[in-house]
Amino acid sequence: MDLTTTYLGLKLAHPLMPGASPLVDDLDTVRRLEDAGAAAIVMHSLFEEQINGENQVALREDEARSFGTLESDSHFPRIDPFTLDPDRYLEQVRRIKAAVRVPVIGSLNGTTPGGWVESARLIEQAGADALELNVYFLATDPGETGAEVETRLLDLVHTVKQAVKIPLAVKLSPFYSSIVNLACEIDARGANGLVLFNRFYQPDIEIERLEAMPTLRLSESDELLLRLRWTAILSGRVRASIAITGGVHSATDAIKAIMAGAHAVQMVSTLLRHGPRQLRVIREGVIAWLQDHGYESINQMRGSMGLRTCPDPAAYERANYLRVLTSWRPGGRRVPMSSPRRLQAQPLDDGI
Ligand SMILES: Cc1cc2nc3c(=O)[nH]c(=O)nc-3n(C[C@H](O)[C@H](O)[C@H](O)COP(=O)(O)O)c2cc1C
Repeated sequence: MDLTTTYLGLKLAHPLMPGASPLVDDLDTVRRLEDAGAAAIVMHSLFEEQINGENQVALREDEARSFGTLESDSHFPRIDPFTLDPDRYLEQVRRIKAAVRVPVIGSLNGTTPGGWVESARLIEQAGADALELNVYFLATDPGETGAEVETRLLDLVHTVKQAVKIPLAVKLSPFYSSIVNLACEIDARGANGLVLFNRFYQPDIEIERLEAMPTLRLSESDELLLRLRWTAILSGRVRASIAITGGVHSATDAIKAIMAGAHAVQMVSTLLRHGPRQLRVIREGVIAWLQDHGYESINQMRGSMGLRTCPDPAAYERANYLRVLTSWRPGGRRVPMSSPRRLQAQPLDDGI
């Protein structure tokens, strides 16, 4: 079975990889991820605030508190404050690069163009094969328009793209008013990949202590649906390759992601829950499914459920809204939206 895929211009053995997370803080865990068949290793992020030396204490406390809310039996490695030190981050990139044969993708997390962006070049020099830029931003200023937020993001993408020669992926949140337009603008600035989507960590309210608590809950498969829709809508419309991150927990989830058009499928929560070996379980599940359904390669399946290629494109658009609402039946019974039609797999070109 040919599982190969091209993501960010990198030829990978298959699309499955760990997403950005502290799983990479521990070299032994990184080796276990590679042994379990990770097609690439995505580093956790180096944050703008860390590079600028801002709020180190607050960050450290916040991180420790929110990680404390993770499931107790998770495979989350021991938290080491070194994760907040840019020099040690670069050293970890070098060590991981020396330890594994698969591509290593560095990660920068920030929102404003500025001197910290120099770190992109340092991550490249440390040996990263590509860079993921996470633009996690909460627009809380009533005086700032959506257009201003997007312009700043695009300027940042442009600046980082200019700073490095390695491929650049942009990890986006879904909360933009015109995500397709924004994706096309990012594409036009030369980004090589889009990573859909960031998860926002919502603070909870502790009603006895009157505290806003940072919480970090691991995802469930239902979070994948948002990613499937927008990947399907973007599939074939941008030159950049697409990675899905969020809600992939099983072989079925990974197959859906690829059918929607993903070139890469990133996982974190399921690896924290079940450990690195879950990568192998999911890959074997994907292979078995492809064989059972007569596929010869993963490319044959990729994008077959994209907006432009799937049998019922209206399912991704507003046209289906009324049908879905009026089709609800007590007990959660589902009413078919359209007559089922055998999939005509129409592979799309690999992304850059
Ligand atoms: C403990 C933890 C740490 C994370 N750290 C980062 C990070 O440093 N940078 C980043 O871009 N995403 C980070 N993420 C987000 C993940 O990369 C991923 O996008 C998100 O968890 C959704 O994928 P999942 O449903 O497979 O968990 C982190 C997630 C978790 C659970």
